[in-house]
Amino acid sequence: MQKTILSIETSCDETSIALIKTTETTDGISVEVLSHIVHSQANLHAEFGGVFPALAKREHGLNLVPVLLKVIKESKEKESEIFKDSKPTDERIQEEIKKILEREPDLYEHIVRHLLGVSGEGIDAIAVTAGPGLEPALWVGINFAKALSTLWNIPVLPINHMEGHLVAALFLPTQTGQNGIIKTPKFPMTTLLVSGGHTEIIHMDTWSSYKIVGQTRDDAVGEAYDKTARLLGLSYPGGPEISRLAERARKENIPAPIELPRPMINTPDCDFSFSGLKTAVLYAVRDNEFNEDEKAGLAREFEEAIADVLTTKLFKALTEHGAQSCAFGGGVMANKYLREKLTQTVQEAGSNIDVYMPTHNLTGDNALMIGLALAVQLHHDISVAHEPIRATGNLKF
Ligand code: KG4
Ligand code: ZN
Repeated sequence: MQKTILSIETSCDETSIALIKTTETTDGISVEVLSHIVHSQANLHAEFGGVFPALAKREHGLNLVPVLLKVIKESKEKESEIFKDSKPTDERIQEEIKKILEREPDLYEHIVRHLLGVSGEGIDAIAVTAGPGLEPALWVGINFAKALSTLWNIPVLPINHMEGHLVAALFLPTQTGQNGIIKTPKFPMTTLLVSGGHTEIIHMDTWSSYKIVGQTRDDAVGEAYDKTARLLGLSYPGGPEISRLAERARKENIPAPIELPRPMINTPDCDFSFSGLKTAVLYAVRDNEFNEDEKAGLAREFEEAIADVLTTKLFKALTEHGAQSCAFGGGVMANKYLREKLTQTVQEAGSNIDVYMPTHNLTGDNALMIGLALAVQLHHDISVAHEPIRATGNLKF
């Protein structure tokens, strides 16, 4: 079975679209990436010190069609049978699209100007992120997906953003280019997802059985990085900034000026709490005048505190679940130090446990992972949720 999937991601501050062709093989699902474009708004939001939802919504509206036009151009270069010229769109369909995009006038304008003469023939399904995320941002992507679905008469299916992060880890790229294969992991599998909005440990016994066995009770890890970065006068997003400082401190052996807590490290569950860490940094910078080296030392201590808590809880989850595989996902997994520490933890929990780390370019938000998640559902016959699709800010597994 072969499926061609167009996927759309707008849950936060990345506008991203991908087109993939997936085929079942004995090894897993083989994926040809015809195009994958990620347009980041991070620079615009940096001014506000975090993601500003109304700005994210507006930018998605302005960027979706230009991003899709790039996807169309790249895909056509690889596969001439796709996105061929089509006959003029029926007026009734155009009216329907106008209604769907009532609240997105920019998008409607762009579609009328650029897409009415383009055929969607050959695409089997459209995957769109339905949550979790910022609802105004999610709605733009969903309404765009619905408009394309009406224009091209293709089904649109909602995808959970965190499922995308999880499946991204199982995508092993081939030696060259962007193509790859979605491996079927040995189950049971335990996954640690760490992003700007989430920190959770999930147990899976099959492709479709997700059980959250641990989660943060307050801030997510990425959020703790971002808030701590702000306290240290660093720019948004704070994760890469802190990890850069921490790395320098480790290299130059700069010690921590103070000791930070390891919240909930000894509790018998797999839950987390990171807000106390940020508060401890808040008091430390309020009560001291740290120089640049001391700030680097503090960043190092912060990162080590995060690593200590994550590795302790992951070890517990892996052994309790008898995991055969362990996957990681989310923007924080771009962090080299955490990648190393967590990989080491899996090896300590069992030398037979397979480790699945996402490639660096798939740690942050992207549409490829959304397409990969739908590919898993379609190829493994997992029932896919259908319309009505709505944005759900706190969508759960
Ligand atoms: O998954 P993601 O791109 O968006 C959400 O779904 O939230 O994650 C973004 C988060 C931000 O908080 C960012 O600071 C963090 O990932 N992040 C990092 C690093 N790169 C990005 N955190 C720690 N170290 C990094 N190198
Ligand atoms: Zn994310």
